[in-house]
Amino acid sequence: MTDQPKRIFENEASWYGKDFSADDYRLDTFSFGEKALSGLGIKNAMSKSDALWERGKKVIPCGTQTLGKSPIGFIEGVAPKYLSHGDGGRVWDVDGNEYIDCWLACLPITFGHRVKEIDEAVARQMSTSGITFSLMHPLEVEVAESLREDISIAEQVRFAKNGSDVCEAAIRLARHLTRRDKVVTLGYHGFHDWYISSTDRSFGIPQCIADMTLRFNYNDIDGLKHLFDTNKGEIACVMMEPAIFDEPQDNFLAKVKELCHKEGALLIFDEMLTGYRFSRNGAMSFFGVEPDLATFGKGIANGMPIGMLVGPEKYMRGFEEVFLSSTYGGETTALAAALAGLEYHRQHDVVGHMWRIGKIVLDNFKLEIDKRDLGSYVSANGYPVRQALGFKDADGRADYDLAGLYQQEMLKNGVLCNAGLGFCHRHDENDAMHVVRSFAKALDRMKQAIDEGDIKKHLEGKPAQPVFKGLRNQRATSN
Ligand SMILES: Cc1ncc(COP(=O)(O)O)c(C=O)c1O
Repeated sequence: MTDQPKRIFENEASWYGKDFSADDYRLDTFSFGEKALSGLGIKNAMSKSDALWERGKKVIPCGTQTLGKSPIGFIEGVAPKYLSHGDGGRVWDVDGNEYIDCWLACLPITFGHRVKEIDEAVARQMSTSGITFSLMHPLEVEVAESLREDISIAEQVRFAKNGSDVCEAAIRLARHLTRRDKVVTLGYHGFHDWYISSTDRSFGIPQCIADMTLRFNYNDIDGLKHLFDTNKGEIACVMMEPAIFDEPQDNFLAKVKELCHKEGALLIFDEMLTGYRFSRNGAMSFFGVEPDLATFGKGIANGMPIGMLVGPEKYMRGFEEVFLSSTYGGETTALAAALAGLEYHRQHDVVGHMWRIGKIVLDNFKLEIDKRDLGSYVSANGYPVRQALGFKDADGRADYDLAGLYQQEMLKNGVLCNAGLGFCHRHDENDAMHVVRSFAKALDRMKQAIDEGDIKKHLEGKPAQPVFKGLRNQRATSN
């Protein structure tokens, strides 16, 4: 494979808030805007949520379309199950309780709920033009051109309706270009066979497909070398999330790229989550390593369903042979939202804002954990724009009860979150500090429970379980 010639964009001066210090934001000195926070918390019983759930689980397997939004991800008996609406950084459950939304629909809400610029673009598209047509629509060209301005490797673009589909398309393209079948993966890449076959939810997928997908761990360059050595000439690509929670050590990403190219494989970054969050040009800019192909999506259209596969023309023209075509691929309301979203990013420093709000939270979480000497039980990990808490018992094993206690207390204080927390353009410093204050209270309760040696006694519901057990071990997330 040939090297990528193009430059890495540094398109936003303040794109990762590097000059920002969170020192001015501390619990003992911050002056809270209490009025804006007064509606938060569980004030009403979950009777409508529970009644809907009774109906829903009868007619929908698992009761849900998205496991990461379903009751398995939230403390049963405490958490709401259905949300009715959102506004900015807030959401309301069907029983009228208000929360700061730190899960943001599995993180495609980057600007906030009901942001005028995006909603109007969608409404305008529907009312003046329509939804989808019998021939192509100009928006397909306009969004592709707009993406090229931000994403350094995006000479060409294909659209799909979600992340799973563009990841699948990238794998198929890499297999065709290299005439090889095996793929190596790290992170989460959606529900298609090639990927799910490598998880503990591989039901319904033939073993011959599972045999084609190999896994390695973040920062384990020797593990990757071993895979290339033991599958000589068979690996088409490495598909990975460039940043999860661990920082790359010892030039990890550059070494992955070098190894891929030495072995004739493509490097694909799945920037569904990191794109327009680490920087507009994704984690590839943040770490200075460009992949051969990349997928984007969640950071752009504020929740409208869209995924993008981008890359240089020399690879992307493989789609002249590789089949990628779907009825809704060029559906225009999501494209209108994407175009408005790309413009919104240009008009507002959304990425810098997410870094700043995230840093206030992450720095303070670490501080509050240290203050209570709880570091062996609770850890705050990752980056301001991609952070997650870890919970362990005294023997160092994942402690779901402790995680449940944390989530219970956060919800009661009006923060909807799981172990991972995300922030959007409409969260402000007051929201961030309320999240910190809620966490401090949750830590006090956790400390009491740990000291008493009885966490269960403090639980008011049944703690959440991970969607994939294996992925947690790999320090990845999923929806
Ligand atoms: C990094 C990454 N890739 C792929 C996907 C799959 O996207 P979707 O759920 O839209 O199919 C996700 C979704 O969480 C993701 O976070």
